[in-house]
Amino acid sequence: MKFFIDTADIDEIRALAETGMVDGVTTNPSLVAKTGRRFTDVVAEICKIVPGPISAEVTATDAETMIEEGRKLAAIASNVAVKVPLTEDGLRACRALSDQGTMVNVTLCFSAAQSILAAKAGAAFVSPFVGRLDDIGQSGMELIADIVEIYGQYDDFTTEVLVASIRNPMHVVEAARMGAHVATIPPKILSQLFKHPLTDKGLAAFLDDWAKTGQSILGDEG
Ligand code: E4P
Repeated sequence: MKFFIDTADIDEIRALAETGMVDGVTTNPSLVAKTGRRFTDVVAEICKIVPGPISAEVTATDAETMIEEGRKLAAIASNVAVKVPLTEDGLRACRALSDQGTMVNVTLCFSAAQSILAAKAGAAFVSPFVGRLDDIGQSGMELIADIVEIYGQYDDFTTEVLVASIRNPMHVVEAARMGAHVATIPPKILSQLFKHPLTDKGLAAFLDDWAKTGQSILGDEG
C-alpha cells in the first residue's frame, strides 16, 4: 500500500519524507491557498522533494480549459498527477490528458457509479472522500469496499483507489484491509500511526533496565 501525504506545506512534506513513508503527495486548491504562495512554485518544489506522484488540481470547470491547465501543470515535472473533479467535463479532460500520457487523479468521488466512470476515463487514480461522506452520515469506508470490489472484476480497470479525506488512523487501517492501493494521509494522522502508549511504556521500561547494567553497545569492545 502506498502512502501519500495530504498537504501543500513544504516543511511538513520535507520532514515526513525523511521518515521513508511517503510515496507521493496530494494537494488541492484549499491546501495551496493556506500556503499563501504561488501554486506552480509550490508544486515544483514538492516535485523535487518527493519523486512519487504529486497531485496538482485544475481550477477551470470546462473540459477545454482543464486540459490546457492540466498540460501546464504536467509540464512542471514528470511526476505531476493532474487532478480533475469528477464532473462530466472533468472526465472528458481526464480522457484527453491520460491519452497524452499524463497521470490523472479524478477527485471528489462520492459514489461507486462515479468511480466506474473514472476508470473508464483512464484515470491513474480515483479519490473517494471518506471523511466527507462520514460527515453526512454515510459510510466512507463502505464506498472504498465497493470500489475495490468493482475494480477487481475487470483486468482493464487499472485505476488505483486513492483513499482521500482521511480523518483518523482507523481509516488507514480499514483502507489497507480492503486492499485500497493508496491512502492520502494528513501529516497529523501519519504521525499518529507511529504511536502506541504501550510502545512508549515498554521502551521506557527496557531503557530503565538497560541503564542498570551500566553497559553501552557502542562502547562494548569485546
Ligand atoms: C486529497 O486529495 C483531498 O483533496 C483531501 O483528502 C480532502 O480532505 P478533506 O475532506 O479533509 O478536506
